Amino acid sequence: MLRETVRADLLAMADLPYDGEDVDQLTHALQAGALAVEAGARPALVAAALLHDVGRLPHVEAALPAAPHERAGAAYVTRLLGQEVGWLVGSHVLAKRALVATDPDYLALLSPTSVRTLREQGGPAAGDEVERFLRHPLAADAMALRRWDDGAKDPSAPTPSLEALLDAALPADAA
Ligand SMILES: [Fe+2]
Repeated sequence: MLRETVRADLLAMADLPYDGEDVDQLTHALQAGALAVEAGARPALVAAALLHDVGRLPHVEAALPAAPHERAGAAYVTRLLGQEVGWLVGSHVLAKRALVATDPDYLALLSPTSVRTLREQGGPAAGDEVERFLRHPLAADAMALRRWDDGAKDPSAPTPSLEALLDAALPADAA
């Protein structure tokens, strides 16, 4: 049931444009999930990588129309998969802002679209925001997820297998 829901949400991202990036939302989600698997991430983190932008889906966005996509996604994913995955989804923009504030090499890794949206998202995180974020026990996971997110925009990469990624993200529901 859970597997069917996650599969349906991911498939609904096919052909959804990704804000000026060269890949659609489904390809982006699958590439992010595959980078998590390659890094040996645990299932919750693979699930968060796959679903980090689920807040861009119309039915998820509609539940919290005034919220940015990471907040709408976090609320949805928390209901679906619990607090940990929901927090990771909700933190992928703050992780970007914290990385910009703390890693001088990070900004150069961002796509032009991501640099543009950084301004809309509040720019580099302020010192107290960074400190609060880094104290969270899942901060390192959120920053790893963010780097997979940034690396998951390659139109020439082979498309990862959706079913294999669902197995990795939801081992209890594995096919
Ligand atoms: Fe993303």
